[in-house]
Amino acid sequence: MSQDPKRYTITAALPYTNGPVHIGHLAGVYIPADIYARFQRMQGKDVAFVCGSDEHGVPITLKAKKEGITPQQVVDKYNSIIKQSFEDFGISFDNYSRTTSKIHHDTASEFFKKLHSEGKFIEEVTQQLYDADANQFLADRFVVGTCPKCGNEESYGDQCESCGTSHNATDLIHPKSAITGAVPSLKETKHWFLPLDKYEPFLKEWILEEHKKDWKTNVYGQCKSWIDDGLRPRAVTRDLDWGIPVPAADADGKVLYVWFDAPIGYISATKQWAKKQGKDWEPYWKDKDTKLLHFIGKDNIVFHCIIFPSMLKAEGSYILPNNVPANEFLNLEGNKISTSKNWAVWLHEYLEDFPDQQDVLRYVLTSNAPETKDNDFTWADFQARNNNELVAIFGNFINRVTVLTHKYYDGITPSEGMLSQIDIKTLETVRAYPAVIESSIERYRFREAQQELMNVARLGNKYLADQEPWKTIKTDEQRTKTVMFVALQIASALAILSEPFLPHTSRKLKEMLRINSRETQNGLQWSDVATKQILIAPGHTINTNELLFSKIEDSQIQAQMDKLTASKLANEIAEKVTTPQKDTCTFEDFTKLDMRVGTIIEAEKMPKAKKLLVLKVDTGLDVRTIVSGIAESFTPQEIIGKRVTVLVNLAPRALRGVESQGMILMTQMPDGTLVFVNPDTAGVSNGDSIA
Ligand code: 2FM
Ligand code: ZN
Repeated sequence: MSQDPKRYTITAALPYTNGPVHIGHLAGVYIPADIYARFQRMQGKDVAFVCGSDEHGVPITLKAKKEGITPQQVVDKYNSIIKQSFEDFGISFDNYSRTTSKIHHDTASEFFKKLHSEGKFIEEVTQQLYDADANQFLADRFVVGTCPKCGNEESYGDQCESCGTSHNATDLIHPKSAITGAVPSLKETKHWFLPLDKYEPFLKEWILEEHKKDWKTNVYGQCKSWIDDGLRPRAVTRDLDWGIPVPAADADGKVLYVWFDAPIGYISATKQWAKKQGKDWEPYWKDKDTKLLHFIGKDNIVFHCIIFPSMLKAEGSYILPNNVPANEFLNLEGNKISTSKNWAVWLHEYLEDFPDQQDVLRYVLTSNAPETKDNDFTWADFQARNNNELVAIFGNFINRVTVLTHKYYDGITPSEGMLSQIDIKTLETVRAYPAVIESSIERYRFREAQQELMNVARLGNKYLADQEPWKTIKTDEQRTKTVMFVALQIASALAILSEPFLPHTSRKLKEMLRINSRETQNGLQWSDVATKQILIAPGHTINTNELLFSKIEDSQIQAQMDKLTASKLANEIAEKVTTPQKDTCTFEDFTKLDMRVGTIIEAEKMPKAKKLLVLKVDTGLDVRTIVSGIAESFTPQEIIGKRVTVLVNLAPRALRGVESQGMILMTQMPDGTLVFVNPDTAGVSNGDSIA
């Protein structure tokens, strides 16, 4: 492909439609893809940015079983939530499609049929895991077991989320059905396999030679290790009742493997879009002057770099991806984001709590994007980046410029006088930024690119702070006009350059400055920032001032942390193993226990004992000493005056030389801390032992 591609086909991983999307999805895939697509469109490039819902596969079927609804109902529900979230966050897909659409079923079937008729598959009867209770073969996520590579006991049949390895269900050690929990048996079934081993020489040359330098090291490294390990034939069909029926004879009850059909979804989404636009889809996938890019997360690397390219190669008429800029993972407050554990910031929930603050999240996720290693999202960092960067730098600069323009000139851009050396230098520096930002974007370094954007705002702030128009207005009117003219040029540059990163802010700012983008004929474009001497002309009236960003308060952050704490607690309770019931005791045995309500009236630490407190307890009968192992859960001060349940007739025993005359009844929280027995205490649940 030439240096200057004729067009761009940009794909973003099709999300599984079994749940909403969260910040990990946005940071890893959709924001970088969107920055790239928006940037190329601003260059006037021909772009097809496509995505859609991945609506087949076992996760959907499992979710349907769990919720007692049909797979179609599951995908209908989540497709609209996901689609809405992408729209809300300004992810500018040209088409967001669905793999249950007719156009996709047809495209995937045709693709399979072509490979089949040309003898590109191996057809083989093999033994597969079978759940006799559920009367079903166990593919992919229908089976869990121990990963043969890393020993993770909860690996799925197709992929281990712990070490990222992709394997066959029959490779699992101690497999168990995810439907019934039964140990599966082996049963013969026929499937179609893509002989990846045959594509090894092609992959070696294409990835290991041609893309050694330009692919990210994390992507290249994973591919190399796959190829070095030796590739094996992969089944492209499954025994399932949800998916695209295998278009071959003797294939009843079989569907295409979701990872065979999903990437073809990029092609069908492009077809659907082209049709609506009255365009030809084929150049976007078949012309060698098209730059094809797949934006994905690291767990999808093998499918996009090894398997899908082998499918495209086998088909023969398609181009291959020029790059696959996969990101690593984003963690949340130190823990892996997990849908099942509700350890996530869901995009639709974020917008309920921070309405109209989409760009704040976009900004923070790009600042901290997991481009080269896993990264952590924390609410404290979110608040700091908003308050100290967006509000204090970007927002502050724009606010000063627009407020002063209204105050001094009724909102009319003043004419510049003689430019000083500093003015000339500042404007030259601004003109250099489009190339600097472009260079980072073209190397998929979006964090760096966004930092450069913020440097434009920093430059603006410094310029105003140094030139002090609020002082010169009293002494030198012409100088003030020149300074405000320069500042307005910087503000206009920011309005243009921020569009790929902060689209909502850019739009607001353009409205405020009354400058238009490429949609209007006289609109400003990306390249104008580098080439035009004047972006906003003297005499041009700007709109009234509006705040671009607002401060995020501690209470808002605390509310988010409280939400996460509640999730954590709920998980701990769900994961806690309830101890089995003890042997039966007789009524006589029970009546032997004498339990009374008492009050702790004194408490102190037992010297040199980490766990023990020495208590004086008023039992109503007497005041007695009880030694209790609760020092790691309470300070002596906080329990004085506490009402407790006391087993008063427990035989006295000496602990560290102090005689204990009874026992206070306690139970344990999921995190191991002790609480006094009170069934209404938050976190205490049915089945907790009292001791
Ligand atoms: O990991 C996932 O969420 C997959 N649904 C991604 C599919 S990408 C593509 F190939 F469609
Ligand atoms: Zn593993």
